[in-house]
Amino acid sequence: MSRPTDSIHGQWSSRWTFILAATGSAVGLGNIWKFPYIAGENGGGAFVLVYLLCIVAIGLPLMMAEVMIGRRGRQNPVNTLRSLAKEENKSASWGLVGWIGIVAGFIILSYYSVIAGQAIAYVFRSFAGVFEGVTADGAHQIYLSLTHDPERLLAWHTVFMVLTMVVVARGVKSGIERFVKYIMPALFAILLMLVGYAANTGDYFNQGLHFLFTPNFSKLTANGVLTAMGHAFFTLSLGMGAIMVYGSYLSKTTSIVKVSIWIAITDTVVALLAGMAIFPLAFANELTAGVGPGLIFETLPIAFGHMAGGALFGGLFFLLLVFAAWSSAISIVEPVIAWLVENKNISRRRASVTAGFGIWLLGLLTVFSFNIGENWILFGKTMFELLDYITANILLPLGGLLTAIFAGWVISKNNAKDEFAMKTPFFYPIWRVLIRFITPLAVIIVFLNVIGLLG
Ligand code: PFF
Repeated sequence: MSRPTDSIHGQWSSRWTFILAATGSAVGLGNIWKFPYIAGENGGGAFVLVYLLCIVAIGLPLMMAEVMIGRRGRQNPVNTLRSLAKEENKSASWGLVGWIGIVAGFIILSYYSVIAGQAIAYVFRSFAGVFEGVTADGAHQIYLSLTHDPERLLAWHTVFMVLTMVVVARGVKSGIERFVKYIMPALFAILLMLVGYAANTGDYFNQGLHFLFTPNFSKLTANGVLTAMGHAFFTLSLGMGAIMVYGSYLSKTTSIVKVSIWIAITDTVVALLAGMAIFPLAFANELTAGVGPGLIFETLPIAFGHMAGGALFGGLFFLLLVFAAWSSAISIVEPVIAWLVENKNISRRRASVTAGFGIWLLGLLTVFSFNIGENWILFGKTMFELLDYITANILLPLGGLLTAIFAGWVISKNNAKDEFAMKTPFFYPIWRVLIRFITPLAVIIVFLNVIGLLG
């Protein structure tokens, strides 16, 4: 059976542009907004340690698996998994795993866009000097005045969705490639500056480091472990076909191992730096680490409000946060778009409008969960929390587990090796043990633990 040697959607210009695009996908709200607040909610150090273990034992092998599968299949994740399964004489229903990803992407982008919208709102507030001299209470009120107003949230959510779909409609290559080349280094630079500022808070910086890096296992619950694992998937964009679809645009000659390690390291460093920038500022301003999703929107403005040039600097920071979210959002929706273009035979533009509208509509649930729908509680969670939980803690680990099984057990040893190991024959056996045994077992153990079967 013949496999396509190119994707109909094009190919990255070089290995570096793939690394940048995949890093653009990985580095996003997950690193700068979500990681600090979930680390805060789950007690810090021990959570961070479990998260790092998950990146190494689960995330990294899975990232390599997704790139490998994507590049071998050269189609959207549903078609890729189906055709590679058929090639190995296995059931075509493996395509269903691709569907888990498409559903997860739909839901993730629906709330991701609302949070990214909040970041856009903060760009304007910051540049306008709204945070100058602000107190902790004042920052809290500014945050509430945005989130408690459904019209404003909806407007910013709409703006972000339009921005995302405009780039997606123009094609991944001319959109993202151009974008990430400038944006990622700038984001990194600003983050370092913020860490530098936090380092000047003296004792508070040490307190922040202590919080992040000293494990206190008594604070870690089974659910905290699941959240750490789910976040490893979320932050590396794994378990839903985003990296797989990006892999399908990758040249045959690129070493999968090297690029994956680069992406995972950069992503992890950005998350840790974000934590190191934010916790000292939170502690210095007598905020608790566990305030939840508002953490970044309530602590950073206080710091910006008290530093020289804070309005400019703060505006720039939120702008870069928006760009980071933007380059991630594009990758979240790319599997859906590739599927629509390949299977429904419609143009990218039409696919973008259709998918974008559906996701925008679903986003209303998150918009309302901050205000008029605050009390719509299901399983003890608001709509936003529920969508986040279902995707990050269930769908992504499930999609990832099945993808690992697919890469380790369905694709034959020789085919995987052929795709994978060109420049790194030495690493291949290690990867194979990880993806066949360690990655799936780790995911299953964490799941069983949460259900309570392991006590
Ligand atoms: N990795 C992104 C972040 O950390 O913000 C979020 C994300 C992107 C999740 C792409 C899933 C995905 F497929």
